Amino acid sequence: MSKAHFGLIGLGVMGENLVLNAERNGFSSVVFNRTYSKTQDFLQGRGAGKSIEGAKELQDFVGKLERPRRILMMVKAGPATDAVIEQISPFLEEGDLLIDGGNSEFRDTERRVKDLESKSFGYIGMGVSGGSKGALEGPSMMPGGTKSSYEAIENLVCKMAAQVNDGPCVAYIGPGGSGHFVKTVHNGIEYAIEQILSEAYDLMKRVGGMNGKEIADVMAFWNNTEELSSYLVEITEICLRAKDSQDGIEIVEKIMDKAGQKGTGLWTVVSALELGASVPTIYASLNARVMSSMKNQRITAESIISRSTIKPFHLGNQKDGMAPLMDAVVLATIASYAQGMELMRIASKEFNYNLNMPSIAQIWKGGCIIRSELLQRIQDAYSLNKELPNLLIDPWFVEQIERRISGLEKIVAGAVQSGIPVPCLSSTLDYINSYRTSRLPQNLVQAMRDCFGSHTYERIDKVGTFHTNWLEIGEKK
Ligand code: 6PG
Repeated sequence: MSKAHFGLIGLGVMGENLVLNAERNGFSSVVFNRTYSKTQDFLQGRGAGKSIEGAKELQDFVGKLERPRRILMMVKAGPATDAVIEQISPFLEEGDLLIDGGNSEFRDTERRVKDLESKSFGYIGMGVSGGSKGALEGPSMMPGGTKSSYEAIENLVCKMAAQVNDGPCVAYIGPGGSGHFVKTVHNGIEYAIEQILSEAYDLMKRVGGMNGKEIADVMAFWNNTEELSSYLVEITEICLRAKDSQDGIEIVEKIMDKAGQKGTGLWTVVSALELGASVPTIYASLNARVMSSMKNQRITAESIISRSTIKPFHLGNQKDGMAPLMDAVVLATIASYAQGMELMRIASKEFNYNLNMPSIAQIWKGGCIIRSELLQRIQDAYSLNKELPNLLIDPWFVEQIERRISGLEKIVAGAVQSGIPVPCLSSTLDYINSYRTSRLPQNLVQAMRDCFGSHTYERIDKVGTFHTNWLEIGEKK
């Protein structure tokens, strides 16, 4: 019997869909799941009549694969991934390749690449984005590891990936944990855009008094513009239109206002802080989820601290897509991508990942959760200037800022006066304002640090490191 081209471990929804995708693209497959009954159910259900067989034991699973073996693991990130690696390793042979398609922490992947390669196996940490539908129809994939390992899966992943105008949404990302790092940043941007659209919804609902259908119509309008056409805007419209079949009430209005997270947004922010990358819009979205989770405290606080009353302000007209609100949403979305790209640029230098920025923008154009038309502009900007320090200074983006900043200012000012939190919109305004200010007040921070802790400071009028005996020369009234 001929051996299968591809192996999959972990028959969750993503795993099932990815193996169906591989099979559809001509790769006969073998599947393994910790609970064998799940494997049987799959083979009798969605996997029936396809070139997919199952295995009850890992040894048998490995034996059914052609060499070098290509095995995709779709298991929970963390200890579960380590456990699978440990269990399967005794059956692997030189050159066999394990691919981790979960949302693993990039440092875990870094360690696993080293471990597995020291045993002459290949290891790829591959970010996979697109949810269950994307996994089946064509996801965006971000594989990182040793280049030769990638070459062994190139044909497979290029066929499985979403396809856009200039090719498949997959490319070699770089060494070590770079694939998972890029996926982590993708998720940070995903958190930010989700929060930005939620803030816009909140303003339209509470200030504009609009219902779900009206807000959905605005999303539809936005999705028809170059600046906002994207998967997340598209699904926001869909979510807002959905009604409970029992009573006709919009389902969104019945959902508890607490958002959890699985970790990638947190890792993005932690990495940014560690690397010295400024990602305030992304951070604001993470913090908004944390704050949302404190539901009981918020209920109590609302009865203790009186809230500002909502003072109506102009969000725009529905027929022109709520122009100032759209300005705010566009700039916050741009800032989210800019911060994510900047974080990757800094990480690339720090970890020697040698990330190819236009290529990353290209593979995000299709299949993934943050796919959008803007990514073409981002790809163009980095293709034009590989060393671009920040997207905000690319001419197309400068023009966007100039055209839309007053809209963002008006929306943030109005929200502030009405006591409506808009963490992503307001931090975007601060981000842009800080970035376009050549002299910030950190001279005073430096003076204070030097005053109490002799931390020293640099000067703008002479070169060197300086310390002042502030308590002696400074005067106190
Ligand atoms: C994707 C998504 C996905 C992620 C979920 C949940 O690209 O397909 O990023 O990988 O796991 O979106 O993320 P949170 O539960 O942390 O919001």
